Order: sequence, then structure tokens, then C-alpha cells
Amino acid sequence: MAREKSDSANVKKAAAEKKPVEKEIPAAVSPASTAKEAAPAPEKTAAAKKKTAPAAKEAEPAPKAAPAAKEAEPVKKAAPATKETEPAKKTAPVAKEAEPAKKAAPAAKEAEPAKKAAPTAKKAEPAKKTASTAKKAEPAKKTAATKKKAASADKRKAKAPVVEPESTPAVAEPAPVMEEPNLPRRSVAFIGSECHPFVKTGGLGDVMYALPRELARLNCDVRVILPRYACIPQEYQNKMIYRGEFYMDLGNTGRSYYVGIMEYIWDGVVYDFIDNEEFFSWGNPYTNLVDDIPKYCFFSKAALAALNYMNWIPDVVHCHDWQAALVPVYLRTLFKDSPVGRARSVITIHNLRFQGVYNIPTIKYWSGLPDEAFGMGALKQDWVEANMLKGGLAYADRITTVSGTYAWEIQTSEYGERLEDHLRYHSHKLRGIVNGIDYGMWNPETDPALAENYSLGNVLDHKMANKLALQKELGLEQDTGKFVIGLISRLTNQKGLDLVNAIVPQVLDGNTQVVVLGTGDKQYEDAFRAYEGSYKGTFSACIQYDEGRAHRIYAGADALLVPSRFEPCGLTQLNAMHYGTLPIVRETGGLKDTVEPYNEFNGEGNGFTFDRYDAGLLLDAINRAKSLYFNNRYHWDEVVQRDMAKDVSWEKSARQYKDLYLELTQW
Ligand code: ADP
Ligand code: GLC
Repeated sequence: MAREKSDSANVKKAAAEKKPVEKEIPAAVSPASTAKEAAPAPEKTAAAKKKTAPAAKEAEPAPKAAPAAKEAEPVKKAAPATKETEPAKKTAPVAKEAEPAKKAAPAAKEAEPAKKAAPTAKKAEPAKKTASTAKKAEPAKKTAATKKKAASADKRKAKAPVVEPESTPAVAEPAPVMEEPNLPRRSVAFIGSECHPFVKTGGLGDVMYALPRELARLNCDVRVILPRYACIPQEYQNKMIYRGEFYMDLGNTGRSYYVGIMEYIWDGVVYDFIDNEEFFSWGNPYTNLVDDIPKYCFFSKAALAALNYMNWIPDVVHCHDWQAALVPVYLRTLFKDSPVGRARSVITIHNLRFQGVYNIPTIKYWSGLPDEAFGMGALKQDWVEANMLKGGLAYADRITTVSGTYAWEIQTSEYGERLEDHLRYHSHKLRGIVNGIDYGMWNPETDPALAENYSLGNVLDHKMANKLALQKELGLEQDTGKFVIGLISRLTNQKGLDLVNAIVPQVLDGNTQVVVLGTGDKQYEDAFRAYEGSYKGTFSACIQYDEGRAHRIYAGADALLVPSRFEPCGLTQLNAMHYGTLPIVRETGGLKDTVEPYNEFNGEGNGFTFDRYDAGLLLDAINRAKSLYFNNRYHWDEVVQRDMAKDVSWEKSARQYKDLYLELTQW
């Protein structure tokens, strides 16, 4: 956010200095023509290739604000930090498009910019390709294209077998589990920027994994389209199968971009990874807006072009968060006359804080969207900014968010992140559907990460063993009598960590231990590390991203803190309940919808809650939890069992998504 604001401030400043933004457009275009010139000389050395990359950078009108953007980006947990700082990688992709085998073709391509403007059927359907295009994009030929693909695969050390393109339209039909084959069948393309286990920085990754699987059980034919980031673990890269490739123009860059499709079919869901080293070779999915805006313009457009290319036209395109928010816009503009143009669209807001905001010339430049998309009712925001999420919300047929309360909250100025009016305007197509968790991935009875497995029937016998093992693992005093509070979170301003920091000394009363697992903003990382230093054996700060450890904390802790400032849904409280760990949450968003406050008079409820964003109220909620734990263990244990029995699966919610798809596609 901070980043987006400073960018807009720069642009406003430029405007005030009588440098009309429009004047920046030519500036933005000219470097691309440099790139254009460079492209036909594919055999150029690394040094020459480097030349094109900086040129592209210069094309971005407001690059100076980059550092601030970091604050706005989700914490990057999934990937090794080192890669981030390797700018040299940016040049590599150019090389990809510029491989010697393609010499003639790129030149021809770039000489025909007019043709690129139709990114849809013509380009995407292999059958219709012209001879010159075929050289680059026709996967049937085991010539240059195959070699190129092989080279690309080599680069990534992928041992993926090559699928003959003739089989392309057959699309290795997924074998959906189809537990309910009597339900009407619908096909859905999920488009988003992360998905467990390939790449995950937070709950979006969990949802992109779990919901498609559940939908497959409800007789949906689901295809998940993701970027093929270099940080996807090799074990999955190895399983991907080459599905094809083509070239696609992008915005006003004047260039033709490689789009490879690598496929992996797993448990009834097809995963198609969009391959392009220029955009996806960084160590992390998200870097900063200067890079991420072009990256996700490319991704959104390539995802639709890939559907056309594969000739797999879904009934519904379901896209997620700002990174895929241009999908509904493309669908109704550049792709409207192509096969995929007949799909209906749904956009899900997982986190309204991130919107993909930049100045209009930049987003026009990279997206190539027509002027009509930049009206006040769509992408345009204030005077000079374009907001990708805002555009997606305007063009989508339906908007969902991940809890009913958040659907309501985001229409208020407190939670609306400046889009409250826009959301109120579109409220007729907005609804909240609460997230669930995947019972296969989160199951204390079978979870291989745990010291001892347990289920609802024997939780009281085994939870203590997990607590002792956790204490040992983290160097805490091993004592089953201690009340262990866990916190598993991205360490960002959203998560209510100021409240936690303010009360740690009061919480640590001699009978309580606190375990924090997370990475993120330095201020929080440092604060938690400092507490660990001061309270050795009592406070543990695990400043890391560690799936296995997260599972062990859910199992070994007695309570889990989620005191968020805002929380669209929240999954950690669901995981905790399913593992018999009582949540202590702020009553906001999905936390409010999923945790019923414990009622000391009738013993009902699932956890402990507080309403206002106030450290004293958080402390009070923790003290209420402690007092039940220490003074009335019988009732505490009842709540443990009630929470484990609570249905927090995806089943009900997936049905609501299915109903939504059916509503949109009545035939
Ligand atoms: P958000 O998407 O806002 O980060 P959610 O509660 O929806 O929050 O989802 C967070 C997901 O990420 C959960 O599956 C949680 O277990 C996981 N997670 C968060 N931080 C870590 C970490 N440091 N190590 C392992 N898993 C983590
Ligand atoms: C976002 C939200 C979180 C939600 C997750 C999955 O990252 O912050 O509340 O659970 O997306 O929808």
C-alpha cells in the first residue's frame, strides 16, 4: 500500500510540475522499441541481452518508489531469499525468446505488430497458425520449438516427458473423483498466483489447493492455472509434462512473448503452469510492484490465451486476488470474440489490501487494454492511477470474498481500503463464502509431522505428548502444566502483532509459554527475537517459514492467537480448532464467522474473542482462556473436543461455489 501511494504521489507531483502523464507514454514506449530492435538479433551475447532488460525497466514511468512497495507485498516465505537479489536473472528470459533456432521467426513476428493485437483465437489455436507463426508456436513440429522447449526444460533441469502436441486437444482428461456425479457438471479454470504445495506465501495457497479438489468431488472439471515460478520445488518441476507453447504479444511492448504450458495432473485436478523465464525466474513469486505489474499483466493474459490454445474452454473462469484481476477485464475486451470469451467470470478477494495500483500509462503499456477499461467505473482510480483489482471487480460477473463478515466489512470505510464505494456499487454481485481447510492435509490422526497422532476419541491422552515434544524441539521448559500459546502468521501489520508485543510481559506469568512462528516485517521479527532473548525457556521466536513446525505447534499448543486488525477469513484458527487447540481471536472478518465465543454460563463456544483493536482486550481474552484452562480443565477439555468435532472442512463452502457457478451458467 505504502508503495502504491508513493507511486501515485510521484505521478501527481509530475502532473503538478506540468509534466502531463501522457508525455510519459512515449517514454514508456520508446525503450520497448529498443527491445524490439534487439530482439531480431537473438544470438547476442549475455551482455547484449542485458541491454534489452534495462531498456524495459526504463519503460516504467515511476520506478523510484520500488523500495516502499516491499511493505505492501505479502511476505515471501516459500522461496530462498537469495534469489531475490539476482538481477542478472532478469536478462535470461530475453535469451529465451532470442534463441538462435528462432532467428527468422522473431523478426517476422515483430515486424507484424498489428497481428499481435489479436491475442485470442488466431494466435491461440494451433490449427490456424501461419507458417511463420508455426515456426515459433507450432508444437507439433519437433524442430525448433521442440528444441527450444527442451532447452528450456534443461535449464530448469526438468526431466518432464514431452507430450506430442497432437494430443493437445484431448487434454489428458482429468479423472475427477466425482463423488457426486448426479450434480450437473461444470468446468472451471482457477487462475491465481500461488498454490500449495508448489508455492505458498499464505492462505491463498491453501485455498487454491483445497477448493479445486473439493470441487472435483462435486462433479466439476477443474484446471488450475499458475505461473511456473523457478522457486517451485524440483520434485514438482520434474512431474510436469510439456503441453505446448506459443507466442503472445503484450500491451504496447511491441514484443512477442514466449508462453509455455507445463502440466501436472493430480487427484482429479489439472495444474497448468505458464512458463516464461523473463517473468517467473525470480526466487519469489512476489518482488515489488515495478516487476509484479508487468508479471501479472502477462500472466492474466497468458492464462486466457493458454485456455484458447489448449482448446479447453471452461464454463467459468474463477480468478483470485489482484494478480489475476485483469482476467475478467481481458475476457470482456481483448478476448471477447475468442472461444474463451464465452466463459463467465468470478473473482475472489482474499485480501483487499493488495490491489495492484500503478499509474495509468504503465498499466496501459503492459496490459494493452483498451481505453474503455480505464474509465472511472473500472480501472481508473483518482486522477492518474489504475487499479487492477478495481477493474476486475467491475468486469467480473460475480465477486466473492472469503467470509460473510468480510463481505460486509469491505463496504465500509474502515475496511474498504478505498474501494468501499466501488464495492457497494457492485454489492448485488458480491457475496461471502467462508473458507474451509483440507482434511487430508490437516488431519491430526495421520499427520506425519506430529510426535503422536490423535483423533477426537483420544485427543486428551495424546495432546500432552505433542506439547512435551514441542517444548523440547523449541528449547522451552518441558512441563505439561504450562499453558502454551501459539502464533503462526505472516508478521505484518494486518495480523495484530502490535497488540501481542504490547502485552508479552503480562502474558508470561510463570505458568505460560508463547511460541511464535512467522516471517515478515523486520520490526516484528526483531521484537519477537528480543522477547526470546529476555524470556529464555518461556518464549520461542521461530522467525522462519516451516510447514512441519506449524503442524507441530497446532498440535502441541493449548491455544492459538489470531488478534488480527482485519482478517478476510483466516485459516490458522481453523487448523487450530481441528487440532484441538483453542483459538483466541479478534472478532473481525472470518474470525468472527468461525469462532463462537466461549460462554462461561452455558459452556458453549469454540474459543475466546475480543472486539475492539485494543491490547487490553486481547490480554483480557487470554486471561479468560487461562482461567478456564487452570480452573476448570473439565470444561476446557470439552471445548477441545467440540472444536475437533466442528465441521471446518471445505464441503459446505465448495457447494456454495458450485451453486454460484450453476447460477451463472443456467442451461
Ligand atoms: P494469510 O493468508 O493472511 O497469511 P491465513 O490464516 O489465511 O493467513 O493462512 C496462513 C497459512 O499459512 C496457514 O496455512 C498457516 O499455517 C500458514 N503459515 C503462516 N505462517 C507460516 C509459517 N511461518 N510457517 C508455516 N506455515 C505458515
Ligand atoms: C488472505 C487472507 C486470509 C485468508 C486467505 C485465504 O491471505 O489474509 O484471511 O484466509 O487469504 O483466503
